[in-house]
Amino acid sequence: MAKKLFIKTYGCQMNVYDSARMADVLRPLGYAPADSPDGADMVILNTCHIREKAAEKVYSELGRLRRLKDAKESGGDGRMVIAVAGCVAQAEGEEILARAPYVDMVFGPQTYHRLPEMVAQASRAGGAVLDVEFPVEAKFDHLPDHEGPGAASAFLSIQEGCDRFCTFCVVPYTRGSEFSRDAVAIEAEARKLVRAGAREITLLGQNVNAWHGEGTDGRNWRLGRLIRHLAEIDGLDRIRYTTSHPRDMDDELIEAHGAVDKLMPYLHLPVQSGSDRILAAMNRQHTADDYLRIVGKLRHARPDLALSSDFIVGFPGETDADFSATLRLINDVGYAGAYSFKYSARPGTPAAEMEYQLPENVSDERLAGLQQLLGEQEAAFHRTKLGAEFPVLFEKPGRKPGQVAGRSPWMQAVVVEAPETLIGRIADCRVVEVGAHSLHGEIMETSIGDESGAERICA
Ligand code: 5AD
Ligand code: SF4
Repeated sequence: MAKKLFIKTYGCQMNVYDSARMADVLRPLGYAPADSPDGADMVILNTCHIREKAAEKVYSELGRLRRLKDAKESGGDGRMVIAVAGCVAQAEGEEILARAPYVDMVFGPQTYHRLPEMVAQASRAGGAVLDVEFPVEAKFDHLPDHEGPGAASAFLSIQEGCDRFCTFCVVPYTRGSEFSRDAVAIEAEARKLVRAGAREITLLGQNVNAWHGEGTDGRNWRLGRLIRHLAEIDGLDRIRYTTSHPRDMDDELIEAHGAVDKLMPYLHLPVQSGSDRILAAMNRQHTADDYLRIVGKLRHARPDLALSSDFIVGFPGETDADFSATLRLINDVGYAGAYSFKYSARPGTPAAEMEYQLPENVSDERLAGLQQLLGEQEAAFHRTKLGAEFPVLFEKPGRKPGQVAGRSPWMQAVVVEAPETLIGRIADCRVVEVGAHSLHGEIMETSIGDESGAERICA
């Protein structure tokens, strides 16, 4: 009988990708994914260290898991291996084992290809396994293939780590320095995903537009060239990439937004702050004007481009004037969506040592103001789509029976009344109603062809 594997994923899409690959590595050892930790033979927490709150969640979850482990093991029901993976494991490996000695395995984002050895070692008992190295061998060269049918929209990790060293950020320490996979390996994985049913691929990286590598012509490529190359894959209809740094937004990539139809008109381009003083203290290496210029060029290349961003409020030393500059930038850009966070001092980062750490209540107030404005912009963006017609990629059943849910080119959730056979396909839809979090659409007659017209359904 298959052993039950439960993986809980925190944080970013890179972790979502990593969790899926961990399941791939464990499958040959007889582990099959389960949707609850109850009675599981192995539970992996794939963790996030980006803000204090994210890291704290791990310890409270571990407390709950300990009770499940005790119940299983004292009931004579075999062992429950508990593993902590991801960025908290990388940053706090020893501390996790000291605070939660019932944890059996701790491993970072760069070593999960070694899971078979770790599992063997953990089963020999005699203490926990800790592997938080940055190994010389590339993890990607040691991962098995994905198996079975995949989702209509898939993630593909092409770049990891970061050399930008924003002063607030732990990523350069937990994920290590920048690494780009080869174009050949990326293309091969993209083709496999498409064969397994993916119509959309999101290229992932902590600083994805810093990607560079040897292309199939032997030349050094950057991301714009890679996207043009992947766009030639038949059956792949949509390409996205995330997360980008404004400084790595080169002209070739900007041009790709105009030239490659398959590159979707939605871009997550974090700016963090609109104040040049704070941007400098964050070591972002660009000004607010630089950012606006890049946005201008992108919109020139692709007029229907929608943008989203990350913002941090309450960075050390942020004044009311700095915060107003952020609100001004938001008004100048007009975002379709955004994530905003209260600054969280992370151990080991330069900003944690800076003077003038702000009181909570000031940050709370600014965050509320920022989110109000961003919420209004997001709602206004959704409203512009009322009555609009565009292709939707359907990914899953809707919440109500008889509905299917998909995504617009701008990442909006779209719900329509249609049979589940639409899942995995792209159909033209018209928006009939705009809700707070999703658009309600109807399938356009012209997109429902006969059998031979199945491809007509594609965008
Ligand atoms: N405090 C608050 N937000 C942070 N982020 C990264 N580090 C911190 C921190 N120390 C945010 C940034 C980044 C997103 C992934 O998380 O906005 O873009
Ligand atoms: Fe962190 Fe800055 Fe690198 Fe993004 S670009 S991962 S915020 S250091």
